[in-house]
Amino acid sequence: MRENPNYNDIYYQNTTSYSQIIDIVTEHVIPFSELDAPIDWEVFFGDARPVEIEIGFGKGRFLLEASKRHPKVNYIGVERAQKYVELTRERFEKYMRHFGVDKASGTFSNVRLAWTDANYFLTRYVLAESIQAYHIYFPDPWPKKRQRKRRIFRNQDFLAALMRTLKSDSGRLYVVTDYEEYFQEIQERLSDLPALHPVEENIGPDRDIATNFEMKYILEGRPIYRAVYEKVCLSTR
Ligand SMILES: C[S@@+](CC[C@H](N)C(=O)[O-])C[C@H]1O[C@@H](n2cnc3c(N)ncnc32)[C@H](O)[C@@H]1O
Repeated sequence: MRENPNYNDIYYQNTTSYSQIIDIVTEHVIPFSELDAPIDWEVFFGDARPVEIEIGFGKGRFLLEASKRHPKVNYIGVERAQKYVELTRERFEKYMRHFGVDKASGTFSNVRLAWTDANYFLTRYVLAESIQAYHIYFPDPWPKKRQRKRRIFRNQDFLAALMRTLKSDSGRLYVVTDYEEYFQEIQERLSDLPALHPVEENIGPDRDIATNFEMKYILEGRPIYRAVYEKVCLSTR
């Protein structure tokens, strides 16, 4: 262990005690201590559908809308704040009650909530080349200069895990932020990763699904910055 662990390392270490994956429909909760690492998604979900991960899902608006819209995609939402995991679970449950979603219908059987730290999860539990897309919307910008080292896109272990786990030749990374200076930094840092190329048209299939932060910032008239990247297979070039 390092002598002076930084903020993210502390989160990473504490995370082992509570980390769990929640199936909203069956209410089944799996502590990470019972998970085999890395996770075999086909066994885990019981099908071979592509897997997409949203990191820092907050109040879960994107996760709910995207998992409803794409029943043939499996979604893992990763969130380290207990409050947001609970709020998101309630959001799904409220939706199911309100719209009378039959639990046996299959709706939302393609989504799981992982209450854990993203770095911890990606580095230990996610298999190489197994993720079709990552969604990182409004990552904490840590605006104070002395706190910027906490930014997730500054974490080299996290970036390495992101690259290792994304599928080559189609794996995508979607990033959105309202924070211009952080957006520039993200673009610079990602440009150092040779296998990751920006997608020119900058549009994803779910560009119209706003997260809670996006809705708030749009109402405030703030500019929103978006980028889409694709992982390419370097060995065939
Ligand atoms: C600014 S909020 C954005 C929430 C949501 N994406 C949205 O756009 O409404 C950032 C979220 O990322 C979560 N988060 C930050 N770092 C994380 C990490 N290392 N692992 C998992 N979640 C993280 C925070 O708890 C918070 O909920």
